[in-house]
Amino acid sequence: MMEISERKQRHIEICLSEPVESGDTELGRIRLPHRAMPEIDSAAVSPATDFLGFRLKLPLLVSSMSGGTPEGYKLNRELAEIAGEEGIAFSTGSIRVMLEHSETLPHFRMKPLAPQVPVLANIGAAQLLEYPHKTIIDAVKRIEADGIFIHLNAAQEFFQHSGDRNFLGWFDAIRRFLDKAEFPVLIKETGCGIAPAEGLKLLEAGAAYIDIAGSGGTDWVAVETLRKPEADRAAGNAFRGWGYPTGLLLLAYRRIAESGGKAGKRVSGRIIASGGLRSPLDFALSLACGAALAAAALPFIRTARRGEARRFIAAAGEGIRAALALTGAGTLDKLRAIPLMVPSDLEMRAIKLTEEIDRLGTSKKPI
Ligand SMILES: Cc1cc2nc3c(=O)[nH]c(=O)nc-3n(C[C@H](O)[C@H](O)[C@H](O)COP(=O)(O)O)c2cc1C
Repeated sequence: MMEISERKQRHIEICLSEPVESGDTELGRIRLPHRAMPEIDSAAVSPATDFLGFRLKLPLLVSSMSGGTPEGYKLNRELAEIAGEEGIAFSTGSIRVMLEHSETLPHFRMKPLAPQVPVLANIGAAQLLEYPHKTIIDAVKRIEADGIFIHLNAAQEFFQHSGDRNFLGWFDAIRRFLDKAEFPVLIKETGCGIAPAEGLKLLEAGAAYIDIAGSGGTDWVAVETLRKPEADRAAGNAFRGWGYPTGLLLLAYRRIAESGGKAGKRVSGRIIASGGLRSPLDFALSLACGAALAAAALPFIRTARRGEARRFIAAAGEGIRAALALTGAGTLDKLRAIPLMVPSDLEMRAIKLTEEIDRLGTSKKPI
């Protein structure tokens, strides 16, 4: 098997068999208001939403995961088909392997299986420095994807055996790619989070959405560390859970959106929540924090293996409907603006994160 494919296969195996989740998104500390008299007919609430010109039945996304191995191909086919039928967005894993081995193109050409929903490709920021942008743009077109996710995975690369530790030039490469691509380009992390100062910078450069992919779920420092001999794991083990918890990030972005102004307008409706979303309430809470969509990776391969991916989606949908009804919000837009109950220490940390925007000079105006 090719080296990249072997690594990808090992990733899937480790994710399915080892304790790779860092476990604390802090979403569980946020509470939604309950209405004793919601004055809503639950049958009438609709979680449908528009995303990249498509109408989704649910505001959900299958995060980038696979392709490039026989199992990854199978998972892509299975999940793309389910996503299409259930009316949720779908993203393939990194197409890097396809740039090297064109015979894997079918692994990533999932659009025909899910014509009803956005199907997105994926590539690492590091690869934007490695390959001509035209090669990547042509690859996206060849697989008929509706756009591409660029992933930022510095922590994973750092702790990966012979990973690429040179992180110079990522933003510049992204900016050049954004200028060239004629399709939507979305930026994501892989489980350490994108802080508002950086998210805003990427949105200003023209990113269509920021998938914050915060910590609390699949921990790629842990995954890469588990691939090393035990004697070499000390630093990786110490950095487990590195990054910003998903709940904290969502609160920070919500504050910025609510503050209005230039930064608020940029961020509003442009954030995708992910990283450790597991329970139906997690999906509902993420949307209540203002997210356009809520996404997950690991739960989809876990449930797909057991033939339960559709049930997982149905449960998430029921959670979202319950939140729409029981808070009295009724619509996703009202849910996204609902007053949240947040412990003061968490609120303070979210404020600190928003202050970073001024310190890093991303936005000249105070938010
Ligand atoms: C098996 C597996 C493979 C992944 N491969 C990719 C990838 O190719 N590109 C990418 O951007 N993220 C990749 N991810 C990261 C996810 O897209 C996601 O950001 C991360 O796992 C956090 O979400 P979760 O806690 O719901 O798993 C992968 C995740 C898993 C579980």
